[in-house]
Parts: sequence; structure tokens; C-alpha cells
Amino acid sequence: MLLFREKVLAGWLPKVLANVPALLVDHAHLERKAATSALNLEKYRSLYSRVEELNAIAIEELQHFQLVLDLLKRRGIPFGQPCASPWISGLMKSVRGGDRFKAIDHLICAGLIEGRSCEKFQFLAEALQKTDPELASFYASLVESEGNHYATYLLMAKAIDEEEADRRLDFYLDLDAELIVKPSVLPILH
Ligand SMILES: [Fe+2]
Ligand SMILES: [Fe+2]
Repeated sequence: MLLFREKVLAGWLPKVLANVPALLVDHAHLERKAATSALNLEKYRSLYSRVEELNAIAIEELQHFQLVLDLLKRRGIPFGQPCASPWISGLMKSVRGGDRFKAIDHLICAGLIEGRSCEKFQFLAEALQKTDPELASFYASLVESEGNHYATYLLMAKAIDEEEADRRLDFYLDLDAELIVKPSVLPILH
């Protein structure tokens, strides 16, 4: 179902597993940003008719955010500073102006972020099964929801203008493939 053209770097999983507290703090911010992003999409005229669906996604992301915060509290990890992701800013830099174009590009970027989260949560769930079953099942429980957000955002982009959305998806899948292989030492999800 995921359309990605390049694999996540092999070094990503050991890097984040070596610093689970930093990973969890970054994950908390990621869910917060996902909620904000769903709400921000409501500003586009092309998406006024989808406002309730976007609210539902924002609520779900806020619930995910709270779940990560609960996990941080249980583990005595303080909620800290967000870390900027070069991959996310690399994608978002190419969002064009104009209501329709901007809405399509923003939806595709948000969709790809959800898709990569879905993929990476799956990797984490598998890798943590033996060493940290609580965290493994937590990540496994989020996979379906993030996968649905990925599909919903791509379908929303296609519903605005199918041809344009396909063209931009092709562009963003190439951009993702180019950015995802850039090595980074940051212990973050993206
Ligand atoms: Fe989420
Ligand atoms: Fe999501």
C-alpha cells in the first residue's frame, strides 16, 4: 500500500533504539505536529468540505500525543525540546503557493509523513518485541491509524484534482527518495 521508492536507511533503527528517551520525546512532538497539521489543512478553500474529517484526524493525533505523554510520565522521561527534521523541512520547502496547489502539496507532504510514520512504527514494533514489549505493542497499535491517515490525505489530494495530485505525488516520491537516504545523527523518527 505504501508507495515509497527508497528504503529507510539501515542505520536508522539502531540509531533510535540506542536513545529511546529522545525517540519518545520526538514522537510526542510529532503527534502534536500531526494534530496541528490536520487543523492547518482546514484553512484551504479546497478543503472546507472536509473539515469534519480533518477534525477527526486532529482529535486522533491529539489522543496519540496524550498516549506518548503518558508513556513519558510512566518512564520518568521529561517532555523536552522538539527537534527539527531535515526530511520534513525538505519536503515542505517545495509546497507551492495558491489555494489549490498549496492544498494538494500540503496534503501529499502530510500523507508521506504519515506513511513513513506507519512504516517506521512497524519496524519499531518488530524490533522491540523482545526487549521492550510495552513499547512494541504501543507502536503496533498506531500502525493502522497512521496508515489510514496516509491514505486519507492522498485521496483528499486526488479529490481536489486527480491529475495534478498524481503529478505532484510522483514529484514528492522522488524527493522523499532523495532525502530519506541522507544520513543524520539525530535520534528522531524522521
Ligand atoms: Fe498519530
Ligand atoms: Fe497520523
